[in-house]
Amino acid sequence: TMNTLLALIAAYLIGSVSFAMLSSRLFGLEDPRTFGSGNPGATNMLRTGNKKAALLTLVGDAFKGWLAVFLARMLAPDLGLTDEAIAGVAVAVFLGHIYSCFLKFKGGKGVATAVGVLLALQPWLALATVATWVIVAVFFRYSSLAALVAAVFAPFYYYLGGQLVWPFSLPWFLAICFLAVVLIIKHKKNIANLLAGTESRIGQKQKS
Ligand code: G3P
Repeated sequence: TMNTLLALIAAYLIGSVSFAMLSSRLFGLEDPRTFGSGNPGATNMLRTGNKKAALLTLVGDAFKGWLAVFLARMLAPDLGLTDEAIAGVAVAVFLGHIYSCFLKFKGGKGVATAVGVLLALQPWLALATVATWVIVAVFFRYSSLAALVAAVFAPFYYYLGGQLVWPFSLPWFLAICFLAVVLIIKHKKNIANLLAGTESRIGQKQKS
């Protein structure tokens, strides 16, 4: 329907707002596309040494993912949005972050935004996924590896939880799988660096 299309476009626009770009301007830092991994995301913002800028990026990029799904759910009865449409909104906000219309259709890798989406969908799912990220990050000190492992686990968590804890939705399961696959593809360089042993650890400034 028309409302579904408008909701998808609105979600894409919300996702396109890059908090790495906003916080780098706010804190008077360099454009994140010019240093470290070149990625406009929280991990790369941390390479500036400005933890507040990194935190704002993380919270902001997660918040927009949460907001899009929250709004879609809230307005669903009035706009006639189906479960498929709301799962579509989750995909749209995520793709907005990765292929931002304000950044020449480039963008981040989607980790924070995916967490925001999961939080709006099911807080326990977000908690399990973030806990997975934290465990890997604490042990290995690689943000990318933590995100990759969490991305592999998230669809399993959703599926398992859907059998035991919350109502399982196939459109949402497919959306989560799609997010995980795109996120992993966006980490291609990180995977190569991890395999070569040249990936930089969390907070490490140089990226060899
Ligand atoms: O948040 C993205 C993270 O998983 C990797 O970021 O800057 O090390 O490529 P980066």
